[in-house]
Amino acid sequence: MASPITAEDAQLQSMDDVSPAKWHMGHTSWFFETFVLRNDPGYQAPREEFKVLFNSYYNAVGEKHPRPKRGLLTRPSLDEVLDYRHEVDAALGGIVENASDAELEAIAPVVRVGLHHEQQHQELMLTDILHVYWSNPLRPAYSEQTLPAEERMLPLEWHPYPEGLYRIGFQGEGFAFDNEYPRHRQFVHGFELSSRLTSAGEFIEFIADGGYERPELWLADGWAKAQEHGWRAPFYWERRQGTWWRMTLCGMQPVDPYAPVCHVSYYEADAYSRWRGARLPTEAEWEVAAADLPVEGNLQGSESLTAMAPRTGVTSSPLQMYGDAWEWTQSAYLPYPGYRISEGALGEYNGKFMCNQMVLRGGSFVTPEDHIRASYRNFFYPDARWQFTGIRLARDVR
Ligand SMILES: [Fe+2]
Repeated sequence: MASPITAEDAQLQSMDDVSPAKWHMGHTSWFFETFVLRNDPGYQAPREEFKVLFNSYYNAVGEKHPRPKRGLLTRPSLDEVLDYRHEVDAALGGIVENASDAELEAIAPVVRVGLHHEQQHQELMLTDILHVYWSNPLRPAYSEQTLPAEERMLPLEWHPYPEGLYRIGFQGEGFAFDNEYPRHRQFVHGFELSSRLTSAGEFIEFIADGGYERPELWLADGWAKAQEHGWRAPFYWERRQGTWWRMTLCGMQPVDPYAPVCHVSYYEADAYSRWRGARLPTEAEWEVAAADLPVEGNLQGSESLTAMAPRTGVTSSPLQMYGDAWEWTQSAYLPYPGYRISEGALGEYNGKFMCNQMVLRGGSFVTPEDHIRASYRNFFYPDARWQFTGIRLARDVR
């Protein structure tokens, strides 16, 4: 995934929220080193100074290099970071191969978290490199792939779900993050969910109807952000001779009206849904609808390097529940009833972020298929726009 990214590309931090690709690569190996290898008394760290450099937010681990200054790390070079990755991989492989059954049982849960952590950073690396490339007036492309275009649009339909007491949260044998536990009961009123994601063409109707100029459609915080930053369209969109274009991992492309709108903040998603006479789903509603659906869709490596129009002939419905674009929910990111932050540094993974952020569900076109599931909770601040975030509508059953 990193191979199209040059050493110069990998160095850049184009805004505070973006981490350099080089840093993502160092940090994901740092995670295995810190939480697995350093517990082995015989382990010799190849680069002791990386302990501070590649620590993201783990206060229990010690000092950190400040996040907004990651782009200033011209040293270590990309090659040195790749060497470090190889050394950590080799050491980890040695430990796993030589461990007794009891030792393996002890490290397996942490190794598994490390693998899922690396999958998260794979997606973040592409999310961030898109911003890096967009920041360059040459608008370079990560990939020369030709983006597909659908010839027609599926009508938006509504899927009803009855009210009831549902169980929410992870259950099963596989991996889940701590924020998906405990599974618990939740009463959900009857609701309807849209059969697909909101398309760019539908969002253009909102723009054309003055959606960005009508404060009555917006939350107060959202209206303030929109005025402060001059929002008039989704992030990465620009107008060229009367036509909307957008920056993608495949460079600048005309906006495909049938493809899902992407790179909208929670505030824009909320205003759009109000303008449509609908609302965003709660995370419980989303999970109720996804519970029996297979994990399939436009996910990492499967189809396309962009969010795509829904394919006709797909049977599972609603469409696009997995992949294409993360779906904003109207649920604040909060602990489930009975959630406890686990002890030790890994307790800092999720729990300490449960304030002021909103939950997103379903994954995007760069989320690995074996990473996402019905109970998976992503979270971002409501004004974030550089993520692959889109809109699915819900409405009450009256
Ligand atoms: Fe991380």
